[in-house]
Amino acid sequence: MVHIDNVSVEFHTKEHAFKAVDGVSLKIEEGEVFGIVGTSGAGKSTLLRTINLLQRPTSGAVWIDSVNVTNFTGDKLRSIRHKIGMIFQHFNLIHTKTVFDNIAFPMLISGADKEVIKARVLELATLVGLSDKIHFYPSQLSGGQKQRVGIARALANNPRILLCDEPTSALDLETTNSILELLKDIHQKIGITTIFITHEMDVIKKTCTKVAVMDKGVVVESGDVYDIFAAPKHPFTKKLVSHTLNLELPERIHKDSKGALLKIVYSGQRAEESVLSDIIHKFDADINILHGKIEYINEKPLGILIVDIKNNNNIDDIVAHLKQRTTSVEAFNG
Ligand SMILES: Nc1ncnc2c1ncn2[C@@H]1O[C@H](COP(=O)(O)OP(=O)(O)O)[C@@H](O)[C@H]1O
Ligand SMILES: [Mg+2]
Repeated sequence: MVHIDNVSVEFHTKEHAFKAVDGVSLKIEEGEVFGIVGTSGAGKSTLLRTINLLQRPTSGAVWIDSVNVTNFTGDKLRSIRHKIGMIFQHFNLIHTKTVFDNIAFPMLISGADKEVIKARVLELATLVGLSDKIHFYPSQLSGGQKQRVGIARALANNPRILLCDEPTSALDLETTNSILELLKDIHQKIGITTIFITHEMDVIKKTCTKVAVMDKGVVVESGDVYDIFAAPKHPFTKKLVSHTLNLELPERIHKDSKGALLKIVYSGQRAEESVLSDIIHKFDADINILHGKIEYINEKPLGILIVDIKNNNNIDDIVAHLKQRTTSVEAFNG
């Protein structure tokens, strides 16, 4: 559906050229909710904007429905933008227009009939839960309500792709959750291909099925959200996952550990098995559990344990046994 093919974006300042996006390739399938996560300045917005060509790539190509759209202009460019809705961190509403007129705006631009516009605006306002506020102005709305207007406006022309640029980053936790729920609902109802950028791995966990992790303009890792949480490979991804799952331990514990500090991950059904009691019996192991939880990601269980195993003589046998019975075992440095 969307294929970003070796895209780079270079910005030139007086002193130097700077690559905000550096050779990124991603394939986003029809109907997917695809997340892009990274810290501020990683190049996420710049990359996202190449999809609707608000930003032209310096090199590489953007394909939509197997058509190379990179150099589209005029009517062809308008027809691509028509297929793509976008929502923003700061909502980007027109302050002098009511909720009704904000939602109607893209349809007005594309020359839709007045009656059609009216019916569609009412339908969308109901979808986002604002049917009683259509005559309000943005200044009379809360942040969450403003974003609901943004979402309705983005869907006005029945786009096939929805780009979300940090849509919850300006909202509190409760409002964030309600907007994420709304986006999930909409996705279930209309199955729109959604590309979601955020600096929070937690938002990815709640919303997306696939994710690409971006750092300094480069995609360092990508895959199923579940797999990335179960077995992050790149150090940057490991840090994001540890932080999101709250796995970080105080420095003191690392210092005081007398044996092996291990992170054990169980995925799928194995998350519900008990392996530790076997280890204790079989190897007479002295195990201190420092952290343990079962997370549900896309409704699949993921079990994570951080343990300190004090047996020095048979630690290799214990690790070998654990590796057979679990998804992964590795030294924990978080
Ligand atoms: N129009 C521009 N001109 C020059 N530099 C830019 C421009 N847009 C973004 N940048 C720079 O590119 C980098 C990536 O920006 P951005 O894509 O906004 O990152 P993110 O969305 O991940 O926070 C930043 O260092 C930013 O300052
Ligand atoms: Mg950004």
